[in-house]
Amino acid sequence: MALPSSVLLVLVFLKAEVTLSTGSNECVARNFGHGSVVCECNSTHCDSVGSVALPPLGQYSSYLSSMAGSRLEAGRGPVQVNSTRAGLRLSIVPYQKYQKIRGFGGAMTDAAAINILSLSAGAQDQLLRQYFSPEGIGYSVVRVPMASCDFSTRLYTYADTPGDYNLDNFTLANEDINMKIPLLRRAQALSPGPLSLLASAWSAPAWMKTNGALIGKGSLKGQPGGKEHKTWAQYYIRFLEEYAKYNLTFWALTTGNEPSAGRFTNYSFQALGFTPEEQRDWVALDLGPALHASSHPLTHVLILDDNRLLLPHWAKVILNDIHAGQYIHGIAVHWYLDSLVPAEMSLGVTHHLYPEYYLFGTEACSGFSTLNRGVKLGSWDRAENYAHDIIEDLNHYVVGWTDWNLALDQTGGPNWVKNFVDSPVIVDALRDVFYKQPHFYSMAHFSKFLWEGSQRVGVSASQKTHLEYSACIRPDGSVVLIVLNRSSSVIQFEVWDPAVGYISSTAPAHSLLTLAWNTQ
Ligand SMILES: *[C@@H]1O[C@H](CO)[C@@H](O)[C@H](O)[C@H]1NC(C)=O
Ligand SMILES: *[C@@H]1O[C@H](CO)[C@@H](O)[C@H](O)[C@H]1NC(C)=O
Ligand SMILES: *[C@@H]1O[C@H](CO)[C@@H](O)[C@H](O)[C@H]1NC(C)=O
Ligand SMILES: *[C@@H]1O[C@H](CO)[C@@H](O)[C@H](O)[C@H]1NC(C)=O
Ligand SMILES: *[C@@H]1O[C@H](CO)[C@@H](O)[C@H](O)[C@H]1NC(C)=O
Ligand SMILES: *[C@@H]1O[C@H](CO)[C@@H](O)[C@H](O)[C@H]1NC(C)=O
Repeated sequence: MALPSSVLLVLVFLKAEVTLSTGSNECVARNFGHGSVVCECNSTHCDSVGSVALPPLGQYSSYLSSMAGSRLEAGRGPVQVNSTRAGLRLSIVPYQKYQKIRGFGGAMTDAAAINILSLSAGAQDQLLRQYFSPEGIGYSVVRVPMASCDFSTRLYTYADTPGDYNLDNFTLANEDINMKIPLLRRAQALSPGPLSLLASAWSAPAWMKTNGALIGKGSLKGQPGGKEHKTWAQYYIRFLEEYAKYNLTFWALTTGNEPSAGRFTNYSFQALGFTPEEQRDWVALDLGPALHASSHPLTHVLILDDNRLLLPHWAKVILNDIHAGQYIHGIAVHWYLDSLVPAEMSLGVTHHLYPEYYLFGTEACSGFSTLNRGVKLGSWDRAENYAHDIIEDLNHYVVGWTDWNLALDQTGGPNWVKNFVDSPVIVDALRDVFYKQPHFYSMAHFSKFLWEGSQRVGVSASQKTHLEYSACIRPDGSVVLIVLNRSSSVIQFEVWDPAVGYISSTAPAHSLLTLAWNTQ
């Protein structure tokens, strides 16, 4: 919307809550008293930095978000020939090459779809653009639950007819046909490249399970190679075929959400238990051969889809087996309990044992712990937690990071077991607005800049520092460095890229900074 600047200025003076800017693309900040602000968007306005083009060689771009209220605030400066002699120097080490990035994204749960569709058509479009368009934050990964999970309003699978071993009655749900699929198609249309869709199932139909229920502790009946295990593999194939009818092709599937939950604990919501041994044999005897023989043989298979504390054990049991290993491409991790397990002991060790299998983050959210539950509008702590975990994961070989629900309501739902959590986008349907949380911008600092095919490179610090950072070289040769400051130590820093020179910078208190520059 292009308004003359004089008109805008008047509007700004009239509207007290506009504190951050005068431009039409700026954040309409609202403070709910949780440390920082959210940016409010409606059907006609949403803040955006637009598509990003880097300045020519000799200059750098910077994007800053901070507790103080900056949101992807753009800046520019010169790349210098000489050192600025700041105390701390972060040096890019281009010849230390690590993993290549696949992408970043979130999950199209039933709850996310319900919330997005509760907005007016114009606001829905704004929300989808924020995530998937080039002017938005460039999400390229979408995790799609296969049938219901806790973020549904009812319990269902696609094959609830008892004894239906041929899946004659397999049918997608209303939630797929009328909500998730249309939204995924709209997201795909906004995205400049093909979305990497990722499917995860929470539970098999109750009649296939030892406990006869979708929830709680229960596994598939019988043994791998048996008829329940074969039918459960065919269920995945049918899912891929049914979605393909809507032109939605999956990049990958996981062997099932949080298999440890249904095996070792009594979850109050949908779960399907596997031990690593059972998962290994199911992949080797059933899922792998079924997928190989299907019309979707190139679909990647990711094991685990559970917390990293199960590594490296889970990976060892499965990937040491050649029969299972031949069908597998990667290892999917969730972020819950990350603070209990050092990244090096779980992700690092697993990568070094099995470098040919990639690590991929498939679920994370804020507000899941009993002491810090649900939505907290404007929480900066949660933005820092996201950025900290993403940087730590990237620095330990993870190739992508997927957030949980793309959008939730103000109570953190709907969720049929009231397992309410937070989301980067919180919808207020009554006012026809949505709030972009600080951790929306945490995702943006990575997803908007680290394109698919970007390769992580080394960064060395000239002295001990509390700053956290990770750098990648993108396919076009440009460099992206992301720096998180959670600390209170006072230091300036400079960046040295031997290909171009020195950049003088500061990471303000409680801030996240993306620096990017061309090298040719
Ligand atoms: C959307 O928000 C902008 C900025 O606050 C405001 O000027 C505009 O009137 C709002 N539009 C609607 C439809 O409420
Ligand atoms: C860089 O430093 C050298 C000597 O240390 C000096 O001669 C030169 O003028 C400096 N260049 C710039 C652009 O400051
Ligand atoms: C299952 O499908 C068969 C044939 O396709 C149909 O006759 C039957 O009514 C269906 N059963 C249920 C419970 O939907
Ligand atoms: C399916 O997707 C492809 C690639 O995105 C596109 O070219 C084609 O038009 C789509 N077909 C339908 C029926 O939507
Ligand atoms: C699991 O928890 C439910 C209540 O949520 C309880 O009724 C059931 O007996 C429990 N099952 C086991 C095996 O502990
Ligand atoms: C990080 O933030 C602190 C305040 O918390 C600030 O004093 C310091 O200068 C920042 N660090 C850098 C490297 O800019």
